[in-house]
Amino acid sequence: MGKLAVGVAVGVAVATCAVAGVVVGRRLRSRRKWRRVVGVLRELEESCETPVGRLKQVVDAMAVEMHAGLASEGGSKLKMLLTFVDRLPTGSEIGTYYALDLGGTNFRVLRVQLGGTRSSILSKDVKRQRIPQHLMTSTSEDLFDFITSKLKQFVEQEETVSEAAQSRTRELGFTFSFPVKQISIRSGFLIRWTKGFAIEDMIGCEIIERLQAALMKKGLDMCATVLVNDTVGILALGHYYDADTVAAVKIGTGTNACYMERADAIIKCQGLLTSSGAMVVNMEWGNFWSSHLPRTTYDIEMDMESPNPNDQGFEKMISGMYLGDIFRRVLLRMCKESDVFGPVSSKLLIPFVLEMPLMAAMHEDDTPDLKVVAAILREKLEIQDVPLKARRLVVKVCDVVTRRAARLAAAGIVGILKKIGRDGTGGITGSRSRSDAKMRRTVVAVEGSLYTSYMMFREYLHEALNEILGEDVAQHVVLRTTEDGSCVGAALLAALHSSSSSSSEGLHRRR
Ligand code: BGC
Repeated sequence: MGKLAVGVAVGVAVATCAVAGVVVGRRLRSRRKWRRVVGVLRELEESCETPVGRLKQVVDAMAVEMHAGLASEGGSKLKMLLTFVDRLPTGSEIGTYYALDLGGTNFRVLRVQLGGTRSSILSKDVKRQRIPQHLMTSTSEDLFDFITSKLKQFVEQEETVSEAAQSRTRELGFTFSFPVKQISIRSGFLIRWTKGFAIEDMIGCEIIERLQAALMKKGLDMCATVLVNDTVGILALGHYYDADTVAAVKIGTGTNACYMERADAIIKCQGLLTSSGAMVVNMEWGNFWSSHLPRTTYDIEMDMESPNPNDQGFEKMISGMYLGDIFRRVLLRMCKESDVFGPVSSKLLIPFVLEMPLMAAMHEDDTPDLKVVAAILREKLEIQDVPLKARRLVVKVCDVVTRRAARLAAAGIVGILKKIGRDGTGGITGSRSRSDAKMRRTVVAVEGSLYTSYMMFREYLHEALNEILGEDVAQHVVLRTTEDGSCVGAALLAALHSSSSSSSEGLHRRR
């Protein structure tokens, strides 16, 4: 009995030890795997760091590059393009004008009725439509056929609904949000595509000619009075409402900024005479580059695999088209390093599979057990049953990627303020000290889904703006959201430069 009992006890002990060994071994292995994914996160955090000192270096680099881009053609990666917009709407514009807005994910047609006193847009009718993916890489003829057919539908509806038949040719502003070399307010040549568009036959072509030809083909009696970048439209609308508006920023699918510059500071265009002594400059800041930008291996790989490698470096760190893909790349690396997310999902191998709104939804998931994160991982990326602590990690990745983007955008904005002497330091030469530089109220108009619909992005951007400028100066800087500025602003500029108004054709330059 004694021997048997001892035998059983020993057997049980051995079995227990073996089981314990297996359990401990498993735990150790899973801890190691967990440590590996946490390591990926830590590495990401480190390479995305944007302490205020670094942001200030980005501010300085932006201001310096702006100078270089204004000094000579090709003097900087910042193109600092002339827009030939030398005055902005004041509120006295009157009449009915149209706009076509082609730029990011969506295409818009709009009609506004202007009342002639500030803030009196009497009516506004906008039709939005997603650009079919295939048209982004098709031919210019297909693209222009598409947009003019939508415009035709819009105008025909208007005639049946409101019977607003007009005796004169309808005038429209064309918002074309890509880098364009303008030679007048109503003429410009496409330099290159961005944001996934790639229509070879269009590069180097005059844009308004293409549009007018397509309008004619559709039998539309309409005249494109102005050609503008979306940021210029945003600035125009911002200024319409608030005369202290000096710059505009767009942070949507792509990103860019424009601002009002003194004509004599545009050195590459010596002798440029404008009625106001100033001109709006389209910075094309998406192409800004500086060694101070915190770049990760994910950014490098994404750039190399993009249709425009080595271009739009700032845009690829900031804008909606790219943030989801940086996230995807980080998650893919985590999945390869460890199986905490289960086997590698084939969905994760598809570039741009995760669009920014879904990333924002995961980041802002406030359910206690991160239900939204679980649902998006499951439904969009086919990653099932992710444990809560791994879901928390996913939120953290979104946070790191978005925080860096927002803080860099803030540094870009301060770079512009610095260039025009509105950052409280006395501008780029820093000749005046903070104390004797009198701060004027400075308004920057902002649009784009990242800023308007992604709360965390907006909060991080404001936080960084305060950190860089300091509270005293930051209180004079107002970021003001406008709505549909890219197209309403284009219609306002069409009104300002209407063929019925004088001095609309004065300003132009040889190509
Ligand atoms: C384009 C700019 C545009 C910006 C925002 C960039 O990719 O190059 O012209 O303003 O996107 O739409």
